[in-house]
Amino acid sequence: MTAPKKLHIKTYGCQMNVYDSERMAEVMGEQGYEVTDTPEDADLILLNTCHIREKAAEKVYSDLGRLKPLRDARPDLKIGVAGCVAQAEGAEIMARQPMVDLVVGPQTYHRLPAMMERVNAGEKALDTDMPEEDKFDYLPKLRGAARPAAFLTVQEGCDKFCAFCVVPYTRGAEVSRPVARLLAEARDLVARGVREITLLGQNVNAYHGTGPDGGTWSLADLIWALDEIDGLERIRFTTSHPNDMTDDLIAAHGTCAKLMPYLHLPVQSGSDRILKAMNRKHTAEEYIAIIDRLRSVRPDLAVSGDFIVGFPGETDEDFEATMDLVGRVHYAAAYSFRYSARPGTPAAEREDVPMEVAADRLHRLQALITEQQHATQEAMVGRETAVLFEKAGRKPGQLIGKSEYLQAVHAEASTDLLGKVARVRIIAAKTNSLEGVLV
Ligand code: SAH
Ligand code: SF4
Ligand code: F3S
Repeated sequence: MTAPKKLHIKTYGCQMNVYDSERMAEVMGEQGYEVTDTPEDADLILLNTCHIREKAAEKVYSDLGRLKPLRDARPDLKIGVAGCVAQAEGAEIMARQPMVDLVVGPQTYHRLPAMMERVNAGEKALDTDMPEEDKFDYLPKLRGAARPAAFLTVQEGCDKFCAFCVVPYTRGAEVSRPVARLLAEARDLVARGVREITLLGQNVNAYHGTGPDGGTWSLADLIWALDEIDGLERIRFTTSHPNDMTDDLIAAHGTCAKLMPYLHLPVQSGSDRILKAMNRKHTAEEYIAIIDRLRSVRPDLAVSGDFIVGFPGETDEDFEATMDLVGRVHYAAAYSFRYSARPGTPAAEREDVPMEVAADRLHRLQALITEQQHATQEAMVGRETAVLFEKAGRKPGQLIGKSEYLQAVHAEASTDLLGKVARVRIIAAKTNSLEGVLV
C-alpha cells in the first residue's frame, strides 16, 4: 500500500472560505489525501485566498514566495491557489508566480480531482468558471466526527454592489441553496456531534431558497425549520445586510430560543452622504431603527459591525457621524478597516482621502470600539451565561467554549462537558476572553 498523500490548506478571509476549505479537504480526501497542518510534509498545498483588501490579496504572493524553497527542494510538490484572488486574477497568478500549478475559483472546486489529474500529468490547470451546475451537488457527504460548532453555507454571492467591494465580482450573483439540502446537511452535522450551526452567506439574510413545498423560504423560515432538529441547540447566522433585516427575522430574535442573541450587522459608515456614495441604500437612522427594533424584542442582543474609514470623499464631519453612530449603538465588538481601493470597483476611480488622515481616523474609531468591547466584557462579570464547550483550554482541567454572545469563555470542567452546553457564572473579564465557574 502506498502512503496517503498529504494536503495542506491555508485559509485567508471570511468564514465562507473556512467552510470551503473544509469542503475542499473532503473532495481531496476522496482522492486519498490526508490533511496536514504543516506545509513541509505536504504533497499538495492550497492557498484559499481573500481579495477584499489590497493587503489580503498581496499576502498571497508573499506567502507563495515563502513556499518557493520548499518547491525547489521537492519539485513533486504541487501548489494551488483557490478562493477569491484566484477568481479575480486567474491566469495572472501563474504569470506572476510560475510555480503555481493550479488556480481554482470559489464556484468550481468540486472539479479539483479532474484538475489534479492534469496537474499530476505535468500540465497547469485553471478553472474560474461560474458554472450553471451547483458545486454542492457534486461534493462528497461530510464524514467523521465534527466539532461542536459548525458552519453551513446557505447562500453565496452578492447582488448589492457596494461601491468599494469585490465580492459581487469574486463570488458572483446571489444564489440560495434549497431548504431540503440544508436541512439534510444540518441533520447530518447534528448526528456527527454538532450542537451549534452558524448559517453562512455573503448576504445571509437575503436567503430565499426553494422550500420543500415549492415556495420561497426566507432565512427566518429556514431558522424555524432548523429549530425543530433535536440535538441542535444553537443557531447563528452571518453576515447580514441592514436592508434584508425583514420583520420575520427580527421577530425570530425574540421568539426562537435556539437563535443566539448576537448579530453581526455591518453599517460601514454613520454618514448618510458616505452611505449614499457607497451605494449602501440605507441611512444611519434606518440602521439604528433596526437595532432598536431588535433590542426591543431581545434586550440583551450583542451587536457587532464593520466599518470602513477614509472612503473617498469622507470629511471630518462624515467621520464624526460614524463616531456618533458607534456611540449610540454600543457594539460588543466591531471590525474597522482603512478603505482599500480595489481594481474594478466604482470607488477605485475616486480620489483617496490622504493616508495619514485615514490612519488617524481609524485609530480613533478603534479606540472607541475597544472601549465598548471592554465595557461589554466587564458587564459580564457576576452574570450567568450558557457556554458550549468546544475544546480543551490551555491549562490542564480547563475547557474553552463560547457564551451565547459569542464570547470565548474558559472554565474548569471535566472533558465530559466537551460538546455540551452548561451554565457558567463569569468571574473575570479580559478583552478577548472571560473566565467562569460552572454553576
Ligand atoms: N457581506 C458583508 C461583508 C463582506 S466584506 C456585508 O455586506 O457587510 C467584510 C467587510 O470588509 C465589509 O463589511 C467591509 O467593512 C470590509 N471591506 C470590504 N471592502 C473593503 C475595501 N475595499 N476596503 C476596506 N474594507 C473593505
Ligand atoms: Fe460587499 Fe456590499 Fe455585497 Fe457586503 S453587501 S458583500 S459589502 S457588495
Ligand atoms: Fe475575502 Fe472572498 Fe470572503 S474576498 S472576505 S474570502 S468572500
